[in-house]
Amino acid sequence: MAAATADQSGVATLQRQGHAVILLGPPGAGKGTQAQRIARRYRLPHLSTGDMFRDNIRRDTDLGRKAKPMMERGELVPDDIVLGMVEDRIAQPDCQKGFVFDGFPRTLAQAEALERICRRHRFGSTLVLHMVVDPELLMRRLTGRRICEDGGHIYNIYDRPPKQVGICDEDGSKLIHRPDDTESVIGERLLAYDHQTRPLVDYYRARGLLAPVDAMPAADAVTKNIIRILDGAETPR
Ligand code: AP5
Repeated sequence: MAAATADQSGVATLQRQGHAVILLGPPGAGKGTQAQRIARRYRLPHLSTGDMFRDNIRRDTDLGRKAKPMMERGELVPDDIVLGMVEDRIAQPDCQKGFVFDGFPRTLAQAEALERICRRHRFGSTLVLHMVVDPELLMRRLTGRRICEDGGHIYNIYDRPPKQVGICDEDGSKLIHRPDDTESVIGERLLAYDHQTRPLVDYYRARGLLAPVDAMPAADAVTKNIIRILDGAETPR
């Protein structure tokens, strides 16, 4: 499908097929930034497992209490906890036409379980956007990140500062520095990515589901590239 016809037909194609769109890449690659934009454009729910855990921590639930110490150390939360949370979420009616995953799956066991879940819920095909970025950029992106407390809007004090320091442009709420965005925890998160998540690149490539995305240019250019890929998504490459 040509990108020029994308506006309505691109939305229709993705929704008709009930696509599971997955953003795969290291911490700071821009998964959350791009997932918010894709979800808005294609009218699909944005499912961030990191945001789900942070929400549970804020509400002091059992799940949040279990996940908190691991997140503070930069380790992955165990698969059984993540999978229960994800399956509950994608069984919700708003996921019937597809969804955009940001930060899931992150282990081979999660990827295999997702395949089973998608079969069980009769979701259409999976498309994995592999966000490729020079590791040297990641520390600056993550230490400079600020997040809106209420709406999750993402800023960066170096590259995308808010108009008013510490305040979200979109909804006026306070911007926070994520507790795991310190240099030492970022180091642990990058190691977890290398050891546990990077193998998913080969896993999805072998299945013909991987679409590489150059995640180094400015965010708007990355979005354009992703839209071009998604508007041709009937035959994932
Ligand atoms: P999670 O919240 O998923 O964090 P992450 O994967 O470490 O990813 P980030 O949110 O840090 O980065 P991002 O790629 O989304 O980048 P962003 O768009 O914000 O996970 C947190 C923790 O939860 C994990 O450590 C783990 O403990 C647990 N967890 C979550 N899911 C799990 C799972 N499935 N299994 C087990 N445990 C799980 O961008 C970063 C910064 O860069 C921003 O400031 C942004 O403005 C800037 N930026 C973005 N794009 C660009 C660009 N193109 N150019 C310049 N700057 C850019």
